Amino acid sequence: MDHDHVISTRELSRAAIERVLDRAAEIAADPGAVADRHADRVLGLCFFEPSTRTRMSFEAAIKRLGGDAIDMGGVDSSSVTKGESLADTVRVLSGYADALVLRHPSEGAARMASEFVSVPLINAGDGAGQHPSQTLLDLYSMREFAGGLDGLTVGIMGDLKYGRTVHSLAAALTEFDARQHFVSPESLRLPRGVRYDLHESGARVREHESLEGVLGELDVLYVTRIQRERFPDENEYRKVAGEYRIDAATLEDARAECVVLHPLPRVDEIAPDVDDTPHAAYFEQAHNGVPVRMALLDLLFDGANGGNGEQSPIGSAGGGRDR
Ligand code: NCD
Repeated sequence: MDHDHVISTRELSRAAIERVLDRAAEIAADPGAVADRHADRVLGLCFFEPSTRTRMSFEAAIKRLGGDAIDMGGVDSSSVTKGESLADTVRVLSGYADALVLRHPSEGAARMASEFVSVPLINAGDGAGQHPSQTLLDLYSMREFAGGLDGLTVGIMGDLKYGRTVHSLAAALTEFDARQHFVSPESLRLPRGVRYDLHESGARVREHESLEGVLGELDVLYVTRIQRERFPDENEYRKVAGEYRIDAATLEDARAECVVLHPLPRVDEIAPDVDDTPHAAYFEQAHNGVPVRMALLDLLFDGANGGNGEQSPIGSAGGGRDR
């Protein structure tokens, strides 16, 4: 494979992550400097699942780099309804665009699709698998609001089983020697495979069924939505829905500096009264999606230009972890 794909944070080295975050900071400080940088580039958006932030911030990102986006549109309006395979769809779309962003309900879909495309492919969520560009903006936000990444104590609460943003974030945090506290009901614990990978990479991890004992230690509290659409049984969803909520009163026991993040959308896991506390950073976090995705595209396109024939410094084909 000649191209660099961004499929999983398990393949992103610390150096690759920092390259994206540093570039994003440069872009955020002076967006005008890159306004025409990729004027000839087209980004293909292929979303087989609903999306607001990810789709629109990728679209904003390519436009703010001077390029343009083409959007497959909803599954209902595409040839997928005629029975076209994912492999055929992405193979064709990769001839229309300089990079593809793919979201799909099946875990492993992005990896599989990347085998069929001739341009860089970014995984924007594969079922309960991974969502690496979300992690990059999560880390950017932690660096911005918690003052750095090394040695942070991070609480990750909610749906740890189906939450792909959690799986991506947990793997990336191991590169920064974070202490990770996972808070969930027993039925929504991290999947065995994710726990195994964390253990193998020497992560400092603890699991809890309640936030109470650990809240006071946290630099960051990352709250997630219960992923209703991934529950095989609606009754199972109902059993856990509404648990693991925080409100302003909950945060009275948090450190004054504790930053509350959430990938959004939220349902009711963060009460609106948290929005007015100094802890809340989730809306700024969402806004960071634009400069971070601009940086990611910029680095991918520069890598795809080849120059000296070397691969791009990010993603699964180049610059990954030494494993
Ligand atoms: C997340 C996702 O799609 O995984 N949303 C997002 O991209 N910001 C989180 C979620 O849907 O709960």
